[in-house]
Amino acid sequence: MASAELDPVGAACRSAALSAAVDAGLLRVPETIEDKPMALFYDLDAWERNLANIRALFGSHWLHACAAKTNPLFWFLRREKALGHGAECASIAEVVAALENGFAPENVVFDSPSKTIPEIRYALEKGVHLNMDNLQELDRVVDLLPGLQLGEQQVLGLRLNPLVGAGSIAAFSVSTGKSKFGVPLYPDPKYQAELVQRVTKASFLNCIHVHTGSGGMGLKQLVSGVRAAVDFAKAVNEAAGHQQVRIIDIGGGLSTNFEDDTLTPSFSEYADALRQEVPEIFDASQFERVISEFGASCHIKFGWLASRIEYIKECDGGRIALIHAGSEIFLRSSYCPDTFMKHRVLPFDATGRPKAATDLIPHDIAGPLCFAGDVVVRDAMLPPMDQGDIVMLMDAGGNTLSLHTTHCSRQMPSVFGYRQLPDASFTFETLKGPQLIKDTIGVWRP
Ligand SMILES: Cc1ncc(COP(=O)(O)O)c(C=O)c1O
Repeated sequence: MASAELDPVGAACRSAALSAAVDAGLLRVPETIEDKPMALFYDLDAWERNLANIRALFGSHWLHACAAKTNPLFWFLRREKALGHGAECASIAEVVAALENGFAPENVVFDSPSKTIPEIRYALEKGVHLNMDNLQELDRVVDLLPGLQLGEQQVLGLRLNPLVGAGSIAAFSVSTGKSKFGVPLYPDPKYQAELVQRVTKASFLNCIHVHTGSGGMGLKQLVSGVRAAVDFAKAVNEAAGHQQVRIIDIGGGLSTNFEDDTLTPSFSEYADALRQEVPEIFDASQFERVISEFGASCHIKFGWLASRIEYIKECDGGRIALIHAGSEIFLRSSYCPDTFMKHRVLPFDATGRPKAATDLIPHDIAGPLCFAGDVVVRDAMLPPMDQGDIVMLMDAGGNTLSLHTTHCSRQMPSVFGYRQLPDASFTFETLKGPQLIKDTIGVWRP
């Protein structure tokens, strides 16, 4: 077996895992209307190795809060907690889920640009780390504080927009003058001095937060965003005359590569660049806690989806393979096919054995929803595929199931985790059972 370093995402055993899954009856041809021959699979050892690597690279005063929005399955929340991670939550429901799954409140980070007053109160009563998105939210916190008893561990952060510019994906670029997130850090010295004064006056505020952007942001931009946040925190501390800002939250944002099985850019490249440009965050005497909020880079490359092909159609220039997952799971790939999340496809026969890569022709891998754009991958070069054959869509471990939509009332798939044993066989664990039709249509009831 290839070493973890050479094979960080477990590519060497991926095909064998699919064959074993078929042998174990996990992609059975349907017998009832509840059955769908489609499931999401995670290489749990590779996923855990990746998290261990993150923990080892940065420092013992860092808390790596995995972004729940990328993969909110409770199995992963519990395992992240057990391994010493926190949870970054984009909604109050994610906060409730994190607390329910045993995270200590100070390890739950609540980020949302549109928090209601009851949500803010709930988070503060529970002792959850709250990152305020804007100065109006700061005013709300000021108003709420007299009625609350904050614990000593309470973290209250302010999100800055470091204005380092857009990355290659407009929808994920949150560091422009048009961004809806954070308090913009305009370069005007007068403006910055006023902002420093405002923050110094809010003496309970002890954290500065940035999330410079997601997929498509280069390392340089991410590092510049963190540099700007640390400079601002230092200016606050100087103005306050003591270490008011003790915590820095650098957000997530490390891009995912969809071209091959490498983790590019790597966490070690990011850690090195940060060590070089923002050494303060590696020194616990300057900032006692540093938080990261990685999402995509924690999950995407460690999961794949397998579906049987229900029907094959000949079309101009190739074939269309109709499968059981479409834009309801692969939302980003279907709606923005030219921009991001281009899933690689591997072909298997009906018994789950790899099909030889000969006589390749273009296949559109199309979903089951009722609109023309419901195509997950266009022109995948595959050997001629038939009804009942199986396709594997790689790099599907994050921002897929968590974006599931109710369009056409499609059921969510089952999710399985696997580990390869020393004798090369596999064990499978159910991480989420199938969604029944009654639960799928339940959301439409009055
Ligand atoms: C505030 C915040 N933190 C963390 C993340 C996770 O980012 P990524 O998946 O790019 O690591 C996001 C993504 O939208 C975010 O908005």
